[in-house]
Amino acid sequence: MKEFIAYAVMALPELMQGTVVTLQLTAGALAIGLAIGLPLALLRVYGPKLIQPVCSAYLTVFRGTPLLVQLFVVYYGLPEVGLSFSRMAAAFITLGCNSGAYQCEYFRGAIQAVSGGQMQAARGIGMSRFQGIRHIILPQALRLVIPAWSNELIAMVKYTAIVFLIAVPDLMNKAKILSSQNFTPIQTYVLVALIYLVLVGILSLILHGIQKKLAVPGLD
Ligand code: ARG
Repeated sequence: MKEFIAYAVMALPELMQGTVVTLQLTAGALAIGLAIGLPLALLRVYGPKLIQPVCSAYLTVFRGTPLLVQLFVVYYGLPEVGLSFSRMAAAFITLGCNSGAYQCEYFRGAIQAVSGGQMQAARGIGMSRFQGIRHIILPQALRLVIPAWSNELIAMVKYTAIVFLIAVPDLMNKAKILSSQNFTPIQTYVLVALIYLVLVGILSLILHGIQKKLAVPGLD
């Protein structure tokens, strides 16, 4: 145990640098995913029929293929057709687009859970479709989506670990280097697991607080 603590003290500064990158990736991917997922969900529910096949294709591709394959297509494949990205950019794009597909479905579910009658009522009192979405549907749907969205956040912290395979300097990558430099796989990876656990634990606590604050009355 003493040895483990001494090793942890030595390794932590390096691992913390990786943790910062992991958190940046998580935040970036969720933000890109939100920017894609919410508008896409609105298009899925209220958009013209013509655009539906495009939305479906996007969802099918990003939810139907492994995240790792998507990452390799973006980082190793796209340069072949003239689209090169830095490691970091490829990681953000892949994680963001992947999360966008999942977030779209969470938002769509929440929007559809707000009854259709609400939109009719909004139209009935003279609101436009856009105003109905903006003032009636979204405020309710966004509260309903919080539990699913929290899951996505927690999952994303862990999904980011795959980017070490394209040598993004995230937590996993730092761990791999430390472990092979010091021949300490067990200490390093247990430490890394503990860091992920702490991250997820803190985020869960924060999200739980937000969920409690914004809980839909009567649904708690
Ligand atoms: N393990 C899954 C895969 O490899 C993760 C995808 C889930 N992505 C998400 N953003 N929820 O495809």
